[in-house]
Amino acid sequence: MNFTPTEDQLAVQRTAHEFAQNEVLPKAAEIDREHRHPAELVKRMAELGFLGIAVPDQYGGAGLDNVSYALAMEEISRACASTGVIMSVNNSLVCDPIYRFGTEQQKQEWLAPLASGKLLGCFALSEPEAGSDAAAQKTVAEKQSDGSWVINGTKNWITNGPVADACVLFTMNDKSLGHKGITAFILPMKTKGVRTGPPDDKLGIRGSKSSQIYLDEVRLPADAVLGEVGGGFRVAMSTLDGGRIGIAAQALGIARAALEDALAYAQQRRTMGKPIIQHQAISFKLADMATEIDAARLLIHRAAWLKDNKLPYGKEAAMAKLFASDVANRAAREAIQIFGGNGYVTEFPVERHFRDAKITEIYEGTSEIQRLVIAGYLAKGG
Ligand code: CAA
Repeated sequence: MNFTPTEDQLAVQRTAHEFAQNEVLPKAAEIDREHRHPAELVKRMAELGFLGIAVPDQYGGAGLDNVSYALAMEEISRACASTGVIMSVNNSLVCDPIYRFGTEQQKQEWLAPLASGKLLGCFALSEPEAGSDAAAQKTVAEKQSDGSWVINGTKNWITNGPVADACVLFTMNDKSLGHKGITAFILPMKTKGVRTGPPDDKLGIRGSKSSQIYLDEVRLPADAVLGEVGGGFRVAMSTLDGGRIGIAAQALGIARAALEDALAYAQQRRTMGKPIIQHQAISFKLADMATEIDAARLLIHRAAWLKDNKLPYGKEAAMAKLFASDVANRAAREAIQIFGGNGYVTEFPVERHFRDAKITEIYEGTSEIQRLVIAGYLAKGG
């Protein structure tokens, strides 16, 4: 067993750390307060190759691996979880399925600009009545006699929706077939009939714009289908396996932010004549946080390593997300406790970590769905 990162992985981590510390962190509170999409940071991430990390360079990506992706996600999310999820969606939910399921023409037309960050993508699976039950799609795609498609429906909570140029869209082309009647498309967001709703007013990750997407008589050509007609559920599920590594790494970044901020505070804040870190009640909290954060990182790197080595990783990705999101929420809660009254006011960053952490237990499959996925593998002897 080898836990040593490669030179390339270390270089990505270093670059991401410097970018996060110098350019992202100083803006994180303002991005949150103003609910602002950090367009200038997205542009910088494109320049640094962070929007298509594991995509081969021939398609505009950085040509690296998923461990590098996890390392970069952790660093950037440690500074700003909103910036982290913008990056995660583009990498995991947009570039990855186009790379795995796209035709050569789709890769040239869409993957290259998305992976290089010239364009930004979103992933539209959820609907008002299809969240955890992803197969319950109501958006309809009707095939026309000339082979083109007409699409009608509404998508919900679409991260990057209001700022995206392209969308990996899921529709129902034959309701009678259940999940086998789901088809994925690549949808240019400027297509006639596509409209986004007002940005969702969220508890946390307020710099990440999400909204509904309304599809009204949207016409797409036959070659907009991603993968096979009727193969969309497999595209969605296998994409989310990888996405869960990204969100687990986002959660890890948030947990680390909570620990590092709480540790710094505990060393400087004094009560009863000494820094509060010298009170065992505080130091034990920090010790637990650090231990759980390391355990989460190991689970995440294992899942990323399995993906890089083309080994099954669905169960391990679900475990990583389940555990890391739990750790992030616990770490953020304990950080507030360590800060005391100062933890409850916006002057200090830990209330933001607390609000940002919650979403990691919800999107890309709730913690309950991760348990279903893990239990499903166990039941099959996996
Ligand atoms: N890879 C490939 N295929 C898979 C798969 C995977 N990981 N998981 C399931 N499938 C296939 C199965 O093999 C099966 O295919 P066959 O019928 O051909 O054998 C088919 O899919 C159906 O499988 P299930 O019966 O297990 O499917 P289900 O309807 O019971 O659903 C579920 C399973 C795990 C609950 C699934 O609906 C799910 O993951 N739900 C959560 C959805 C989710 O994560 N949404 C996130 C939205 S995106 C987002 O959040 C982005 C953001 O904002 C940042």
